[in-house]
Amino acid sequence: MSASRAGLEDVVAGTTAVSEVDGEHGGLSYRGYTIADVVGHLGFEGATHLLWWGRPPAQDPPARFVAGLAEKRALTVETARVVDALAPSTDPMDALRMGLSALAGFPYPPTEEQGMRVVAAAPSVLARFHRRRLGLEPIEPDPALGHVANFLYMLEGKRPDARRVYALESYCISVLDHGMNASTFALRVVLSTQADLLSAVSAAIGALKGPLHGGAPSKAVEMLDAIGTPENALPWIQAALARKERLMGFGHRAYKVEDPRAILLREIAGRTAPAARFELASTVEEVALAELRKAKPNERLFTNVEFYAGLVLEASGLPRDLFPSVFGVARTVGWSAHALEQAAHNRLIRPGVEYTGARGLSFPPEAPVRALP
Ligand code: ACO
Repeated sequence: MSASRAGLEDVVAGTTAVSEVDGEHGGLSYRGYTIADVVGHLGFEGATHLLWWGRPPAQDPPARFVAGLAEKRALTVETARVVDALAPSTDPMDALRMGLSALAGFPYPPTEEQGMRVVAAAPSVLARFHRRRLGLEPIEPDPALGHVANFLYMLEGKRPDARRVYALESYCISVLDHGMNASTFALRVVLSTQADLLSAVSAAIGALKGPLHGGAPSKAVEMLDAIGTPENALPWIQAALARKERLMGFGHRAYKVEDPRAILLREIAGRTAPAARFELASTVEEVALAELRKAKPNERLFTNVEFYAGLVLEASGLPRDLFPSVFGVARTVGWSAHALEQAAHNRLIRPGVEYTGARGLSFPPEAPVRALP
């Protein structure tokens, strides 16, 4: 297999009209609208409406859709029991996977109604798990709040201020969907076997958990903490690269220029993160890009979505170990859109593989033969 095909790079594995990634020019659009335009004009529910139905809502927020999602937020007694049974040490991403798997009643093929149930329940599962692990009583959803504000409310028990909701909502919209990324591919493979949406979402969450995909935002802010001060950026990064470590929040399989989501989230971090934190991040980014250019002159490595995502999520006040699972909460929207697309034109996804093992071997004549007992 040629090196460029390892990891299926450049292999076109299907068609989609949901989102378009232009890696060469740093473009990302949802249903034809640039991501900056979507974040600039629509809230979470409006952007979800756009992704699912291919057009922006007539008014934002779309009142009927908001109400439809809100009425599906409450977990059933059985699902709540599954979440409550999880050990406090459970990784939040695993809690999200197990909680959503316990929703039940999702026959194949997937429907919009099923997608709405998954999207609506995801924050409820995570908030319930988070409060239970802290020994706190779960909070019932507030139907008067939008999807993102209600998520913060269910985590904390008080209505969040608009600035924090803005930060989290902007982050969520910027990661709703992203072409044939690893988790979406995993979802489509499972769905193509005509397994149900919950099984496919479970596979997608498994794929998202790895740091090479969705596990990086907390790692990027951990890196900032380890660096500590702008003056320490250069020696720290040089030492990390000398140890052949990867700098979290840099490089991307698709983007060979700057990730458009990084541009967007840098701007939002500049407005929502504390000034000193933003200054540290800016210095680390500048030094990291310069050192990556020297260390990997043949690679086109730029800032990816995860670097400033960490800062924006900090500004939204979320606990750090929830960052990767909040990515999952947002991405349920894109996964659902892809599930509907896959089921509408389904064919089993079953690629070939290049065999590289031995051929034509056989056992010697004197080898004992396995007899029928
Ligand atoms: N820091 C240091 N070196 C890097 C980085 C990085 N962040 N990213 C790539 N490289 C180097 C690799 O070491 C490799 O060099 P080598 O051949 O000398 O070993 C070369 O660039 C190519 O790397 P690949 O792993 O082949 O590139 P790939 O396209 O498979 O990787 C990936 C993309 C996984 C995102 C990678 O850039 C990475 O590990 N980044 C850090 C983790 C991260 O930020 N993850 C979030 C991704 S965004 C998202 O999925 C939502």
